Amino acid sequence: MSQANDRTPANGVENEALLGLLAQLDLEEKVLILTGQDFWSTWPIEKIGLRSMVVSDGPSGVRGPTWDERSPSINLPSATALSSSWDLDAAYRYGTVSANEARRKGVDVVLGPTINLHRSPLGGRHFEAFSEDPLLTAELAASYVHGVQDNGVGATPKHYVANDFETERFTADVTVSDRALRELYLLAFEKSITEARAWMVMSAYNSINGATATENELLETPLNSEWGFDGVVVSDWTAVRSLDSARYSQDLVMPGPKGPWGAKLVEAVRNGEIDEAAVDRKVLRLLLLAARVGALADFDPPATPTPIDGIAFAREAEIEGTVLVRNEGALPVVPGTVSSVAVIGHNAVLARTQGGGSATVIPESVVSPLDGIRAAFPDAAITYSRGAIVQEGVAEFPPGSMTNPITGGPGAHVRMLDADGNELFAEDRFAGALVYFGGDAPVGQMKTFDFATQWTPEETGKARIGCAVVGTARIFVNDELVDEQQAHPVGNDLGAAFLAPPSMTVEVDAVAGQPIDFRLEHRPLEMSALAGAMSITLGVEPPVVDDDQLIAEAAAAAAAADVAIVVVGTNAKVESEGYDRSSLDLPGRQDDLVRAVAAANPRTIVIVNAGSPVAMPWRDEVAAVALTWFGGQQYGNALADVITGAAEPGGRLPTTWPATQDDVPVLDVTPVDDGIEYAEGIHIGYRAWLKAGTAPAYPFGFGLGYTTWLVGPASLADDGDTTTVTVPLTNTGDRAGKHVVQVYASRPSSAVDRPVRWLVGFTTVRADAGASTSATITIPRRAFMHWDGEWKLEAGTFDLSIATSVDDIVETLSLEV
Ligand code: BGC
Repeated sequence: MSQANDRTPANGVENEALLGLLAQLDLEEKVLILTGQDFWSTWPIEKIGLRSMVVSDGPSGVRGPTWDERSPSINLPSATALSSSWDLDAAYRYGTVSANEARRKGVDVVLGPTINLHRSPLGGRHFEAFSEDPLLTAELAASYVHGVQDNGVGATPKHYVANDFETERFTADVTVSDRALRELYLLAFEKSITEARAWMVMSAYNSINGATATENELLETPLNSEWGFDGVVVSDWTAVRSLDSARYSQDLVMPGPKGPWGAKLVEAVRNGEIDEAAVDRKVLRLLLLAARVGALADFDPPATPTPIDGIAFAREAEIEGTVLVRNEGALPVVPGTVSSVAVIGHNAVLARTQGGGSATVIPESVVSPLDGIRAAFPDAAITYSRGAIVQEGVAEFPPGSMTNPITGGPGAHVRMLDADGNELFAEDRFAGALVYFGGDAPVGQMKTFDFATQWTPEETGKARIGCAVVGTARIFVNDELVDEQQAHPVGNDLGAAFLAPPSMTVEVDAVAGQPIDFRLEHRPLEMSALAGAMSITLGVEPPVVDDDQLIAEAAAAAAAADVAIVVVGTNAKVESEGYDRSSLDLPGRQDDLVRAVAAANPRTIVIVNAGSPVAMPWRDEVAAVALTWFGGQQYGNALADVITGAAEPGGRLPTTWPATQDDVPVLDVTPVDDGIEYAEGIHIGYRAWLKAGTAPAYPFGFGLGYTTWLVGPASLADDGDTTTVTVPLTNTGDRAGKHVVQVYASRPSSAVDRPVRWLVGFTTVRADAGASTSATITIPRRAFMHWDGEWKLEAGTFDLSIATSVDDIVETLSLEV
């Protein structure tokens, strides 16, 4: 799979040419390049042939240096969808697509993968991370890193480390045992460094055991001293807060150009407070990175990315990540066998294809579930009912509904004005969600932001139009000022102002097809943390409706159809960077909606469009349930493939799905007195569920396909270093399929506190109907070791269980070590 394409010049950081370049730099130049040049790039130094390097989020696509619909990116399904594939080759190709996108957009290093753990299902960035299990995370992450770096672009596993929640994320101190760090949170990173040899790692915002991540000894040990990391530790954005951090193995401060190092660091070196060797060490790493990505003259150019059809891959990745958790014969729905389909749910149209926050990319277009289903059932009558309101606050004007009053073409006209009303900047845009975070717009100097469009509603009735932003909003409708409002950020986190600003709207009488002139004058608040950056959404808030009536209409449509497909899910306010969730419940009246539809039509299929677990109290009352995560831009097509049976749902749960929030053994994400104690130690995820003896709704590793398998009997070989488990399998069904073979270890009697069972190996297998094959899983000794100041192996007998999920063991073998 991976062609070792490490691109490390001979002797790595000790390379003579790099040392020679370092020797040509004076102290000011060295210090200069250790802080970014702007939001997304590093400083060039022409005299040594060093060009600026560009980094970009990531990780499910690559946004590039501007956040702008005029420069779209491929929107891959969320990391939770990728991890549900349990497929290392898919992770590799996910990285390959990212590398292609990066080069297309002039990006040298992708700021991903995010490999913090799903410690609590309430974690706001759960969608962006892989799993509750460190081994599954580590394997997928390493393949992703290989996929990016084999194609000549750098990858950045993040956020190092224990950054598993968002509340008070800049300051919270995580108290965590060495053992849990080593066996869980660090283990997730280890393989990306030791085997995939990541060129960059991002240090986190939070503290770990009393020291903030950018000033933490963990940056040196194990990262450098034990794992041999020779890349650059980049800070999370604004995470470096002191001069003192320069003493640590923190190499690059982002963003720039301001930062706590600069002139102060030069001075500290000059007066002997900080050793120049510490600066040199960082500079050499930056130069090595530059050599690797092709930013240094006289070094080999990086590999040209292997071409890959990113859009086709987005569709495939979503199919492989779709987890079918219930199917009472309702799926697949073969086209031609039904004459009517009732599609229901707000997310069937306003689907979530990605999570919110820095992970956001702007796709050129999105295939919604309704679009996908319509295309897949050309001969059936398809009805659509919204069923329940899911969206909270303003969602951007649909692209096709805006006309630019200046050009007369699609879109909107945007102006930035100074205090005297002089125009500083103007542009024509095609989206209603605008984020200025990097780029040339003079956001820092602007006093007034002006957005004008002609909005053509699709429906007749009362509509609420306006914006979501922090500051004042003067809303003009048909050239008349109709309201002036002011919104303050909720909480003191940059995230709150930037990622979830409050909405301000006015009600208008909309007539389908009749344009309304809309203009917004916005004055931003003075907020130093946001200087130069701005996020605003112009659009429509959901109408005030009679919820019972919406549900009744949906149920009536379901009753009249051969099959009902309900797409339920979360919204932009629920899952995003910057804050955690407060509840696992689906927003709005969606639970009532599903129950009503299921009562009206026995063939009710529920599609869950959420990046992380949600409670599904109706799950046993419906005919089928598929968990589809945030599906990427090909979401609707992938969904249609799975529904029609054109493809098999390939996913298995990378994280336990609880029945109720009260059952979740490790839930808390809210610091107390500025800290969170990871008191559960090594028992997170399924380990905690097993320890508590509580049954979840669906266990880790679980997922159904469309065929059946005969598994085993397995055999085992051990050479003293590694154990090889061989599992014969036969596809006993009538169609080709995929099976994920999982191996869990357990230790019946042990002097050490251990999980009841823990994942030690897995592989995916595919076979045609009736065909037999065999899976080979290699398990290194480390999988049986525990951390006790060092890795230790407790001699004796370990049980190895071949399983289809952590709760479904097919057979158990024993191994003497
Ligand atoms: C996020 C990072 C991201 C960075 C740059 C931070 O707020 O935590 O994941 O890479 O911003 O956008």
